[in-house]
Amino acid sequence: MIAVTPRPTVRNSGALDARHKIAIATVTLAAAIALAGATFAQPPNGTGEPPHPTVPIKQLMETTITDASNTLWNASDPPTSAEQWAALEKAALALIEAAKINALGGTGPMDNEWAKQPAWKPFNDTMLHASESALAAIRAKNHAALLEAGDVLYPPCEGCHTLFNPGVVNQN
Ligand code: HEC
Repeated sequence: MIAVTPRPTVRNSGALDARHKIAIATVTLAAAIALAGATFAQPPNGTGEPPHPTVPIKQLMETTITDASNTLWNASDPPTSAEQWAALEKAALALIEAAKINALGGTGPMDNEWAKQPAWKPFNDTMLHASESALAAIRAKNHAALLEAGDVLYPPCEGCHTLFNPGVVNQN
């Protein structure tokens, strides 16, 4: 397991608190990855259209996105084994897939309305690009770059929630 300790590079301890309060992981990372895979693995529809999400955004958030981002944020100490790097790589890949799904909306009552708003894509793109930076850092075994990607990953979570789901922010 990777030690769950606040890492010293976080400059804003308020953000770290909020980040940990958001963390309501309830499923294992393996299940989260299975979910991400299942959501994208749809038979070709022959229309050339992108696949449609099969889960509500809320579920994607509470499972894949929360688990994967926590795994990345919790890597405050440099990994010491191939297994630890592999777990981080899985998390980054799961987050990338989840961000691509989140760009499309979801099956929840508000999901497609949210995803159509102009602000949705920039927040989601920032989350996607931070995940891709994390993956590159992990593959290069560059822990400092992973910490930087983790710092870039947090603001789009908070920004998107403030705009689209202030109730979530207020609960935390
Ligand atoms: C592009 C917008 C967007 C981004 C980026 C985003 N979220 Fe969300 N998130 C939402 C929306 C909208 C909801 C509310 C869904 C609902 O209630 O149907 C939500 C809900 C959640 C919830 C459920 C909270 C609750 O009490 O219902 C968690 C946990 C969560 N997000 C975590 C994260 C984390 C962690 C990140 C960043 C790694 C993130 N989200 C990035 C839009 C976003």
